[in-house]
Amino acid sequence: MINEPTDLHFLGNYTRDIPVSLNRMMENAYDWEHLPFVHPSSFASIELIDEGGWGWRCKTTLPPAAGGGEQVVELLVDRPNHYWATTVLEGTGEGVQIHTQATQKGADDSRAIEVDVRFYLPQAPETDEQSAIILGYLQAQYKTLYDEDEALMSARQDALDLRKAPSKAAPQTVDLGPEAELHRDKSQPVELSTGRFVVRHHKGEWIAHAAVCPHMLGPLGDADIDEYGVIACPWHAYRFALSDGVEQEGRCGNLPTPPAIRLVDGHLFIGE
Ligand code: FES
Ligand SMILES: [Fe+2]
Repeated sequence: MINEPTDLHFLGNYTRDIPVSLNRMMENAYDWEHLPFVHPSSFASIELIDEGGWGWRCKTTLPPAAGGGEQVVELLVDRPNHYWATTVLEGTGEGVQIHTQATQKGADDSRAIEVDVRFYLPQAPETDEQSAIILGYLQAQYKTLYDEDEALMSARQDALDLRKAPSKAAPQTVDLGPEAELHRDKSQPVELSTGRFVVRHHKGEWIAHAAVCPHMLGPLGDADIDEYGVIACPWHAYRFALSDGVEQEGRCGNLPTPPAIRLVDGHLFIGE
């Protein structure tokens, strides 16, 4: 059980409805690794100090626009009560605490929650005007953070749902149409009996790779591919060699082997 701090100044809060389950929200709270990649305007980098069922402690750096300072941040989780508290232990904003209560709206396991994010400062600002400015800044920052998290959590839920109910009717081969008419600047999703893939034009040729990341099902369709043919997932920046699917630091399983692509009578085919 984590209590609201009584020795700090309560500045104000930010509340919001989010169309996701409590499971997705709690998973997101524990997920320190996504912070610099999904929330680049709030975090420039992150390094884990310790983690467990209790939460996590990390060293972070702020982006230049936010002053570029360093922080040690701790997040403590009260999982049964869907409550978590973030404390800046050291560095910029030392002593600030942010407590969040997530609450189910509607029936059990429905995908609708509310979050109440409460901001606590070590000391009250000197004037009401200063209070209003700091609160406005934090509310705007948390709106952005939750916009970004809502997109991540919703996409992850969709990917989980699709994985649970793979289309039995999915074909083994798909004709993508006349090659000359295909978009070269955006990827095309393809569902095959062997999984979800994308076809895209890269360095002058058509390639296929997995549509979702083996780590937490992040979207790989438009993910950056570097000059060595390594694709980086936008959620936690795990990096996979397209040649053999291996994650470059061994942090998760491999990308599945993509199906063959071939050109027949001017049409591009993917599959068996
Ligand atoms: S979902 Fe985590 S790196 Fe892709
Ligand atoms: Fe997040």
